[in-house]
Amino acid sequence: MRKNLTLVTPGPVKIPSIIHEYLVNPPCNYHRQEGFGVMFDENQRDLKQLMGIKDPAAFFITNLLASGTGTNEATMRAMAVLGKGLILRNGFFGQRLVDQCTRTGIEHDVFDSPDDRPLDVAALNDFLASNASKYKWAYFVSHETRATLKNPLEQIGQTLKKHGLVVGADCVSSMFAYKLDLEDAQLDFAVATTSKALMAVPGIGFVLCRHTVMAALKAAGKADAYYLDLVGEYEKQKKERAPRFGQPVELHAAVRAACIHLMQVGIENHHKRIQSQMLELIHYLKGLGVTALLEDKYRSNVVVNFTLPAGLEYTEFQTLMAREGFYVLYGLIEDPSMFQLCTMGDLTDLDLAGLKAAFNKVLRDRTRAVA
Ligand SMILES: Cc1ncc(COP(=O)(O)O)c(C=O)c1O
Repeated sequence: MRKNLTLVTPGPVKIPSIIHEYLVNPPCNYHRQEGFGVMFDENQRDLKQLMGIKDPAAFFITNLLASGTGTNEATMRAMAVLGKGLILRNGFFGQRLVDQCTRTGIEHDVFDSPDDRPLDVAALNDFLASNASKYKWAYFVSHETRATLKNPLEQIGQTLKKHGLVVGADCVSSMFAYKLDLEDAQLDFAVATTSKALMAVPGIGFVLCRHTVMAALKAAGKADAYYLDLVGEYEKQKKERAPRFGQPVELHAAVRAACIHLMQVGIENHHKRIQSQMLELIHYLKGLGVTALLEDKYRSNVVVNFTLPAGLEYTEFQTLMAREGFYVLYGLIEDPSMFQLCTMGDLTDLDLAGLKAAFNKVLRDRTRAVA
């Protein structure tokens, strides 16, 4: 079996070759060098542009040495100095936010919505009409990756804001993958990472922070996190163009490389490539008798779950696909009858052709045997 499989997973993903080059040969080698500050500023500028921010002076991207989970936690802890929060839950990652709040003692309530469709904004609005005064802030998931469900980010953000809340969103699997209007959504915080549609390697979490709200958090008092102190990190990075502690220069260089790559490709072309490759795979698999789950209108078409033919479970399927050179992830963890595909990574036409050939080999006889 090949040592390095082609990843068709929702992060980490297949990375462009320029990322390898910058990881091995970063433009500087210490995080307090002048060269690091230059790279830091360039990344700020390009990341805001790739995020579609129209008023870059209103925001700062704080870099944390953490994956998406840690970055969400740091952001919620920072918001918690304001008082009680409301966590919106309609899937696996919303549940994780709730678990993080419960375990770390963040005062919160949960607003639930069904997990097989986008979050119900009208029900949220009704709930807030009589309950909003109990809360200071709210946090929700933009794209529920396991269920492959796209939540209406802009409408949710506007609704929470209308009721006077400070608003944060986990945009881990939607940022850079499809168009988000973060300013229209009126978000105060948006979390993303290096490992997904940005196509760098895992390691850094980004928090897009609205300056005015950071001032309010500082005025409200210190959060109890020391290492993952969002406000402390924001202030240091804004002033010194470097992190408080020794974050790997190589990871920042990988971000630099990803920005250079995506600015060259064009973010709209990147979004289009992700969609068109996924639609091609959905169409091809349909021809093999393998259908996509979730109604078309709810699907992100960035990450999609499929039902395996009867008699073939995920573990065996994954082994067979790995023999063909591809790493394919499970869908909903507890359901072995599914697998998941994601086209966020730097997949070429050749990768797609290889993937289709692998599906043909692994699935064709199975679906025939069942038919
Ligand atoms: C929506 C969402 N939130 C949070 C996470 C957690 O990110 P990480 O695995 O980087 O901690 C993921 C990971 O897939 C995700 O898709």
